[in-house]
Parts: sequence; structure tokens; C-alpha cells
Amino acid sequence: MSRLSTLDIIQAKGQRKLSMLTAYDYPTAKIVDECELDMILVGDSLAMVVLGHEDTLSVDIPEMIHHTKPVVRGAKRSMVVSDMPFMSYQVSVQQAVDNAGRLIKEGGAQAVKLEGGASVLPQVQAIVRAGIPVQGHLGLTPQSAGQLGGFKVQGKSARAARQLMDDAQALAQAGCFSLVLEAVPAPLAERVSQAIPIPTIGIGAGAGCDGQVLVLQDLVGLFDRFLPKFVRQYARLGQEMSRAVASYKQDVETGTFPGSEHSFGMKQEELEALDQILKGDGREK
Ligand code: KIV
Repeated sequence: MSRLSTLDIIQAKGQRKLSMLTAYDYPTAKIVDECELDMILVGDSLAMVVLGHEDTLSVDIPEMIHHTKPVVRGAKRSMVVSDMPFMSYQVSVQQAVDNAGRLIKEGGAQAVKLEGGASVLPQVQAIVRAGIPVQGHLGLTPQSAGQLGGFKVQGKSARAARQLMDDAQALAQAGCFSLVLEAVPAPLAERVSQAIPIPTIGIGAGAGCDGQVLVLQDLVGLFDRFLPKFVRQYARLGQEMSRAVASYKQDVETGTFPGSEHSFGMKQEELEALDQILKGDGREK
């Protein structure tokens, strides 16, 4: 089965809902891909849910490339989108094109995602001109949470909503093939989705979006520092893993692991010969 292209993603708008999840390594990418999700995001949430940082700001391009590579190896069909981390595109257009190019060339991603509206339009235009598909990201943009006053729902006032709508239209015009809307009121996300020709991918943006994205660790219960309101948790893998690890410890301590089924035997005559040799060496048991 061939990999989905940006054209497939754009053509899905109005036809079917798009599904997207994060992954940061080979085994989880393989699972997500085999479940036939349309897109896999190697998000900068990597910093928090895998690398244990307090926020998403500290992850850099080499780390994003490092995690994008195994995801691309694990995903045969899903389109892999790699996040441009904080300060990898804000400084200049040249910096943005160079780093987007590294995620594609070295990481093997099919597209990049970056946060922001009007302020990053020159970067988006230049990356698209370089032939690299770009996914936009508006609403709660965690890389600028400091400026937004924290991790808060965005676009709640008519004025802020209008600005978000303008940014969405500008990003679509600049050539983005899709747009993530994070933590925006559902009625606003619905209006944005109706107004622009590219698919909107919501996270905490209601059911009116053209698709949905979640962080895999939230969905399967592998990140327990907090759970955003917009997450539906489908499994408690963290608890399940704790149970498994505690049982293993107990079995090791009580000597019930490894069992004979986990051990390798030896022919009786070889064993006897070994014992003779050890006896001759004076290393008798
Ligand atoms: O980094 C990430 O996981 C994201 C999603 C929240 C969209 O940007």
C-alpha cells in the first residue's frame, strides 16, 4: 500500500474525517500505521511525554530528526509530519527553510508543521516554495504559551476569533495543506473549517473540524502528569505496565522467574563431562 500524499489529505475534506496521532518511535509508529491512521505527527510534545521536560520548548532539530527517523521506518502508509521545534523557524526565513529541509532530508518526514499565523507567513511561503508540504497550527500554540498567558483556550472573544479566522485563511493561501486547531471554541473551529479550502485537524476544537489529532501517550494512558480536558483515554497502559513491572520484581525476588521454560538445557553427557573437567581442574562443586 502506498503512502498517503498531501493531495489525498486535501481531497478528504468534505468526504471523510481525517485521523492523526503522534508517535515518537518505531513500535508505536508501526501500530498507528497498521491501524491506518491518515497522518502521524512527530510532535514537539516529544519533549514532555517522552523526554520528561516541563514544556515543549527545549527539544531541538537533532532530537526531532532522531525521533522522526524510526517513525518513518515504522510507518508505511500514514503520512509522517515532523514538528518544527521552538526557535528552529522564528529567527529568519532562511533558518526556517534550512531546518524544514533537514526534517525532510535527514528525518525522512513527508511534511513539517509549525505554529503561528501572520508572523510566520513568510516562513510558510518560503518552505512551500522549496517544495516542502507545511501543516499550520493555530489556537493554543504551546511554543508561545508564555505570550498567550498559559495553556488557555484561544479565540474566545469575537475579536480574537476574527484574528484566528484571518490567520487560517492566510495560512491556507500561503500553501499549507492542512491546519491544526488546538484548544479553540468548537463553534469557531466549525466556522474556520467551513471557510478554508484545506482540512482542519482539531485537538480540543470540537467535532466540526475535518479531522482530529491527539497525543498517543494521553490516549493510551502513558503520561500521567496531567490529562487535558479534550482527551478521551482509551487505555491505561501506564497502570498495566506498573503491574507487569511489579510482578516481575516479585518473581525475581521469590525465584519463580525464570522458570524452566525460560532456561536453556544441556545434554546430560556434556554436563557430566564438564563436571569431570572441573574436578580435574580442582574446581569441584
Ligand atoms: O506536539 C504535538 O503533539 C502537537 C499536537 C498537540 C498537535 O503539536
